Amino acid sequence: MVKKISLIVGSPRKNRSCNFLIDNAIEGIKEISDEFEINKIQISEYKITPCNGCDACLKAPNDCPLSENDDMKKLEEKILGSSALLISASNYFGTICSQVKVFIDRSRPWKMKNYLMKDIIFGPMAASGLRNSGESVIVNLINFALIQGMIVVGNVEGVPFLEGNIPITTLQKQGLKDFVGKGEIDELGALIARDLGKRVAELVLKMS
Ligand SMILES: Cc1cc2nc3c(=O)[nH]c(=O)nc-3n(C[C@H](O)[C@H](O)[C@H](O)COP(=O)(O)O)c2cc1C
Repeated sequence: MVKKISLIVGSPRKNRSCNFLIDNAIEGIKEISDEFEINKIQISEYKITPCNGCDACLKAPNDCPLSENDDMKKLEEKILGSSALLISASNYFGTICSQVKVFIDRSRPWKMKNYLMKDIIFGPMAASGLRNSGESVIVNLINFALIQGMIVVGNVEGVPFLEGNIPITTLQKQGLKDFVGKGEIDELGALIARDLGKRVAELVLKMS
């Protein structure tokens, strides 16, 4: 059976840093095998109403009334049943951008229906404006994954003392006022994202 790997571009901007991370991860996945179903999702294309805390999802049948009028059911169909899920989120004020936060909150029924995301391999990624920033976004994503019963993985490809394990891309280069210019890319961020894709793909094959 073809294994599905879902990847969510969490930014409201479709073609910027979060997308850059996801596209690099897809390249890595394809390096391992082109047999996967690649399910790339732009979160900005979906209407997701913020959770209002009604707690309806705590009682059987654990459905969310808001899903009658937004796109959460569409996302449920697309995401549940994936072997792996990668999410890239923008760093807004040291935390995940609201688009991803709203999605996470609304995924609560999937937990309440007895962990529908259990054992999905999860790869967190973050896009940050500044260097030395973005780790808290990763922590937010890891918490989501742990609470949903997913299996969190980082990059373990490449040279251990040269290549980081957590895919974070940043617009700021070494100098204080030195930012990534038009046509330039953050090569290290791209490499780590690609290697995370490889790692996730390898694990999906191992576990199947
Ligand atoms: C409202 C807002 C808040 C932001 N806050 C931070 C921040 O606290 N730290 C940081 O490094 N970058 C911050 N940024 C910059 C974004 O993290 C950066 O532009 C990132 O690349 C956005 O992802 P995207 O390019 O995929 O949209 C902020 C951007 C916006 C719009």
